[in-house]
Amino acid sequence: MLRSMTPSHDQLERIARLRELFLDEDRGGKALADYWRDEQDLLAYDAVLGARIGWKWDAALAECKDRGMARADAEVVLDFGCGSGIAARRFVAHFGAREVICHDRSTAAMMFAVRTLQAAAPGVVVQPQRKLDLVQPDVLLVSHVLGELDGNGEAQLRSLIERSQRVVLVEPGSHAISRRLSALRDTLLAKFHIVAPCPHASACPALVQGNDWCHFFALPPQQVFTDSDWVRTARTVGIDSRSLPYSFLALSRTPLVAPPSPPPHRVLGRPDISAHGAKVQICAASGLTVRDVTKRHEAATWRTLKKHPESVRTLPS
Ligand SMILES: C[S@@+](CC[C@H](N)C(=O)[O-])C[C@H]1O[C@@H](n2cnc3c(N)ncnc32)[C@H](O)[C@@H]1O
Repeated sequence: MLRSMTPSHDQLERIARLRELFLDEDRGGKALADYWRDEQDLLAYDAVLGARIGWKWDAALAECKDRGMARADAEVVLDFGCGSGIAARRFVAHFGAREVICHDRSTAAMMFAVRTLQAAAPGVVVQPQRKLDLVQPDVLLVSHVLGELDGNGEAQLRSLIERSQRVVLVEPGSHAISRRLSALRDTLLAKFHIVAPCPHASACPALVQGNDWCHFFALPPQQVFTDSDWVRTARTVGIDSRSLPYSFLALSRTPLVAPPSPPPHRVLGRPDISAHGAKVQICAASGLTVRDVTKRHEAATWRTLKKHPESVRTLPS
């Protein structure tokens, strides 16, 4: 967060401008033009919107770890559409890397990402790279980029994915982008093993009905509710600090070594909590279903769903 400084009016305006661009869903599948005007844009983004994305990565990578994804200490990691580089920073913090390539169509973004990553992980070789035609990364990271690509851009991304050994995509938890991610997932099933979050490798059941979408919520640190800078920033730019919706997908070309057995299902979205129970949407190979958890019979689960819904990936059988 706006590192030990109170956000200036200029910073708040920059964050609000970027947020408006990202939330604009009227582009109708058109690519979003380059919006980074200078380093100050990246700095303001990284402190607030980037920090929120970092918490989504923390949640997604924790799940990848629990599903058996191996460390990457000897590997080359590519952050595609790196922006301020938050995805690579969070990945290296969780899984390590030998080398990180920061790629973005914006030179200002690439240089910012390289600098912040060098400061965060001095032992890792970090470099910017504009042309990716010959790059075959061990690990490809894609964070909040899918919604900015048109059909052409997505085809290029798919070709890059197909040249990668492992891929982690973390995207917003919106209906449209999550469904786009699920559709991309289904085109990659023949070539990759799914690491997370899916408990199965069948076609995505969230695509069967138009009103479903595969998404989750990450938990922000307590600081966002107690730190006056965070509270003021969130209020000024219209961020709901309690809500960090995301979708994600982790893939591996080779099967994982000794993975834990897959969970029977994955809880999606937010449970619908009432005084007597909770309705919870779960995904399994057989499709999406809604499970009723009654307070009377499953009091502990109901309480956890009410207090810490983000922590429940699987319901007890
Ligand atoms: C919303 S920002 C996300 C940045 C960063 N990945 C994150 O999660 O904070 C999207 C980034 O993708 C970049 N981008 C958009 N289209 C691109 C393309 N076709 N090729 C490379 N980068 C692209 C933008 O310049 C921007 O830095």
